[in-house]
Amino acid sequence: MRIKVREALASETPPGEITVCGWVRTRRDAKGFSFVEINDGSCLRNLQAVVDHAVPGAEGIASVLTGASVAVEGRLVPSPAKGQRWELQATAFRLLGEADATFPLQKKGHTAEFLRSIPHLRARTNRIGSTLRVRSRLAMAVHEFFQARGFAYVHTPVITASDCEGAGELFRVTTLDLGAPPRGADGAVDWAADFFARQAFLTVSGQLEAETLACALGDVYTFGPTFRAENSQTSRHASEFWMIEPEMAFCDLAGDMDCAEALVKHLVRAALERCPEELEFFNAYVDKGLLERLRLVAERPFARITYGEAVALLQASGRAFEYPVAWGENLQSEHERWLTEEHFRGPVTVRDYPAAAKPFYMRQNDDGRTVAAMDVLVPGVGEIVGGSQREERPERLAAAMKAHGLDLESYRWYLDLRRYGTVPHAGFGLGFERMLMFVTGEANIRDVTAFPRTPGHA
Ligand code: 4AD
Ligand code: MG
Repeated sequence: MRIKVREALASETPPGEITVCGWVRTRRDAKGFSFVEINDGSCLRNLQAVVDHAVPGAEGIASVLTGASVAVEGRLVPSPAKGQRWELQATAFRLLGEADATFPLQKKGHTAEFLRSIPHLRARTNRIGSTLRVRSRLAMAVHEFFQARGFAYVHTPVITASDCEGAGELFRVTTLDLGAPPRGADGAVDWAADFFARQAFLTVSGQLEAETLACALGDVYTFGPTFRAENSQTSRHASEFWMIEPEMAFCDLAGDMDCAEALVKHLVRAALERCPEELEFFNAYVDKGLLERLRLVAERPFARITYGEAVALLQASGRAFEYPVAWGENLQSEHERWLTEEHFRGPVTVRDYPAAAKPFYMRQNDDGRTVAAMDVLVPGVGEIVGGSQREERPERLAAAMKAHGLDLESYRWYLDLRRYGTVPHAGFGLGFERMLMFVTGEANIRDVTAFPRTPGHA
């Protein structure tokens, strides 16, 4: 009977004759037997097998090196070694696949940069393996959060014709021969001859489609890949990332902020409860203050301020920031860091941003210059959530669309939502990788994604 290392280590009483399969982390030889540390990815810890050189299959054990795959049959016996309850007393040993001395993960303590150069192997390390287990459990926790609140999980298209954020950071989807595309009389590329008979792109956000579904199903959420052709070489931007986007009918900005805070806290608690070994590991090797910070975040309410208050605090800080702080300017990452890491020492939700800095769909406030936007900022990462109440008033929305240079005809379906039974509604996007950075303490988005896509790297 094959059981996983996780299960074996959790056994209350030895389950009898078992088989454990995995990859060899280390082999140490003594007279007449060898200690083989086996990891199968089911948990952070290894299972130590004690292989007597007389058991079947152990003849060739001297050639079993780090990285090889093995199957070991035997019984669990109490381990004399510290920190592990059981070890596997082998009764048979089998080498499944050898690894020679060129296997790149020989010693512990590789740099993150080196590991990024071997994306196909790095998941076999404690660090990336732990991240991917946390990622899997938090994905499940996202669904639990929304399903428990009666939200419908909806799937919005990956290929779309609209630019939700209006930032023009779109990857084009085309089947045209780019060397010799069909051209119209004016010499411009004739996109009507393309596959979708129009220009098409990878989505930057499922929001607009989620809004149409919220205005039918009430509360919905998406959880899927989004794409941005933004040439940002930062530790927090990826060209392909996963976003969680709830959209709620009959909801205003206050309800939106409550939902975002509850979701972030739910995910922090889920990580603390369901990934204790992984979080201990990150706390020890990646970010010493991690556990303390996460426990505080799970308990305390997030600070809430307006954009105007944030600007006033930054101006009064006496700090010489690289980017100037002035009403109307975007908050830069140094500003977000000061607010979360030095001033509030915890997450802060900033609302009511200048209209000019935000996309067309956000609800205009009565002051005539701000919109009902909100961002959740957290220490170490900065913005993890961006959202807003949506403009539900048809004339206001049409005016904002015009002001943003949108072609009203191609967004008529979006305006229709306001023509037919419009409702106040709100939503947000939580960047899944940024959330993972926050709970693991990893400082680079490339280390919380198995196969990161960034400018120049795919
Ligand atoms: O603030 P953003 O651009 O908002 C939207 O896309 C809205 N349509 C969401 C909505 O209201 N439904 O992106 C939302 C979040 C950011 O706060 C950030 O966490 C993440 O998505 N994000 C990125 N994560 C990684 N790499 C990038 N290039 C990202 N751009 C945004
Ligand atoms: Mg944003």
